[in-house]
Amino acid sequence: MFEFWYKIKTAAIPVLLKWGNDFYKQKRYDKAIKLYKRILKTDSKHFAARANLATAYFETGDFTASIPYFLSIIQDDFSNPWWHNYLAQSYQKTFVFDLALDEAFLAVELSKGAKEQELNLAYTIYETSDEKGCEFIKPLLKKWYQKYPESGIAKQCYKSFFYDKNFTCSETKYVESLFDVFAPDFETVLHDLNYQSPQDIADILDAHFSAVGNSKKMRILDLGCGSGLCGKYLAAKSFCGDIFGVDLSAQMVHEASKKNIYKQLIKDDIISFLSKENFGFDIIVAADVLTYFGALDSIINLVKKSLNNEGIFAFSISQNSLNQKEFFLTPSSRFVHTLSYVKKVLQNNDFAMLKIEDKVLRTEGGKDIKGYIIMAQKNKKNLR
Ligand SMILES: C[S@@+](CC[C@H](N)C(=O)[O-])C[C@H]1O[C@@H](n2cnc3c(N)ncnc32)[C@H](O)[C@@H]1O
Repeated sequence: MFEFWYKIKTAAIPVLLKWGNDFYKQKRYDKAIKLYKRILKTDSKHFAARANLATAYFETGDFTASIPYFLSIIQDDFSNPWWHNYLAQSYQKTFVFDLALDEAFLAVELSKGAKEQELNLAYTIYETSDEKGCEFIKPLLKKWYQKYPESGIAKQCYKSFFYDKNFTCSETKYVESLFDVFAPDFETVLHDLNYQSPQDIADILDAHFSAVGNSKKMRILDLGCGSGLCGKYLAAKSFCGDIFGVDLSAQMVHEASKKNIYKQLIKDDIISFLSKENFGFDIIVAADVLTYFGALDSIINLVKKSLNNEGIFAFSISQNSLNQKEFFLTPSSRFVHTLSYVKKVLQNNDFAMLKIEDKVLRTEGGKDIKGYIIMAQKNKKNLR
């Protein structure tokens, strides 16, 4: 090793860069940083060394160190939105919120509204509002939505801060973009947030079927199946027959397909899928999905039509503990619901409540997100 670092003193810049990039690819960022710095001692303007040094610092979490290098490469490559995106993130992580917002918005402008840049702006706005309050982000949010009224991401973000009673369902473009980008990391991130709804839903169903002595294999539909976590837990239960999954995000569907559990996976919007025909499912599940719907009348009515008589709908719902509204879009761009509203819609559609469990669904920013796991049965009248 000593010999290697000795060689560095005499190696040519292309060799140093290659070694630095090799370390970078192996995620050995500290070593890569030493090599890039060595290059900059000889050639302080070397573009790749500055660029890779900035992102290496970023990857190690040393956001303060990354900022001067991002600023320096932006001087040479201003029109690349990604430098502004990274810089925005570094500013946000170091609590320089006004510059973080400016850079994230610039990235949107330079990319002419690319979804990755819009999602980063939405995230920066959300994080900033959490630290500085909603009034701080509202001027920029107005500017963004006014300039990009057709953008589903801008609209969803705007409606999350400016209450609109007529905004009753998430923008499909927002949901699709969010989960396409999120898909490869979804399970790791949700595991770290202590997310257990898919398991809870499989368990609540299992307890029910054990209690009633069921021996039938059930035909199951997983609404908003995502990466297939519900499929994974349901497949281990004795009542599980064929499982079908539907999701808006092609990348999430791709992740689910790797599990080889689903009989069929369909990339579609839930409402459009359920509207097509009556499917005859015994069970329909939806884990952390109704949080992308505000008004639940349409979806629950379609679930009813797609279930066999005495079919079961098992799902999670996030609790509205913020106000008295039946459903409410929060700054995190997710809807929360009151339990009385959910019960009312189920009752209107001839569902009986079989079980309601109070749960911490997951954490968010270190706080518990509370909600319910609910199991309801079609064509039963004894709703409590
Ligand atoms: C938080 S993830 C949950 C995924 C999975 N149910 C689980 O528990 O791991 C929400 C999923 O619902 C999907 N989704 C939300 N709204 C949808 C809609 N209108 N149509 C189809 N899929 C939707 C998203 O694409 C995403 O994959």
